[in-house]
Amino acid sequence: MPRGLFISFEGVEGCGKTTQADALVDWLKGKDIPVVYIRDPGGTDIGEAVRTILLDPEFRTMHAKCEVLLFLASRSQLTYEKIIPALSKRQIVVTDRYADSTLVYQAYARDLPGRLIAVFNRFATAGLKPDLTFLVDIDIARGRARGVFDDRMERESLLYHERVREGYLRLARKAKKRIKVLDGEKEVRSLNQEVIAHVKTIMARKGYTL
Ligand code: TMP
Repeated sequence: MPRGLFISFEGVEGCGKTTQADALVDWLKGKDIPVVYIRDPGGTDIGEAVRTILLDPEFRTMHAKCEVLLFLASRSQLTYEKIIPALSKRQIVVTDRYADSTLVYQAYARDLPGRLIAVFNRFATAGLKPDLTFLVDIDIARGRARGVFDDRMERESLLYHERVREGYLRLARKAKKRIKVLDGEKEVRSLNQEVIAHVKTIMARKGYTL
């Protein structure tokens, strides 16, 4: 049976991915298309509790291995409680971050073994991958200038966040078909039009009628 469409948004802090995800969800709702909108980490009661631990700046001593396992714990709950049931009802799932974040923030930027993390990710997600991923790319300093960033991850050094950006761009080069790189410095509305154009194309391919 064909499943629903799974779309993720990725990017560094302040890139504008959440604004774009919000706008896509509004557009889908405006077309009366059933959509489930979630965030990772979080998106379930358990996941939100794990998120609070992960982002608490008091937990400065959190080990990189503990961190990655907590992100995966939240994601597995999200996948089994929300994503798989929605996709099996042919709903569209839009998520603010998913497994790519772990490959970049933990494996690439923290130098954890990439192959092992990819296996853990597959375990946590039942091998589920987004059909389409938007990577909103922006210069780290420009992204940071857009707000106050002081949770545990955001307090990491500029160098760390530069590695994250680099990791995302590498990943996008490897998965060109799935990951669409958007220029986060463009105007919100023009980015929104790009997002919708890509979503319309994939919806048509998957047999959705608009
Ligand atoms: P958010 O603020 O964009 O919702 O993301 C929460 C933070 O967690 C953000 O700094 C990115 C980070 N993160 C990881 O380090 N690994 C992950 O797997 C995910 C999903 C997020």
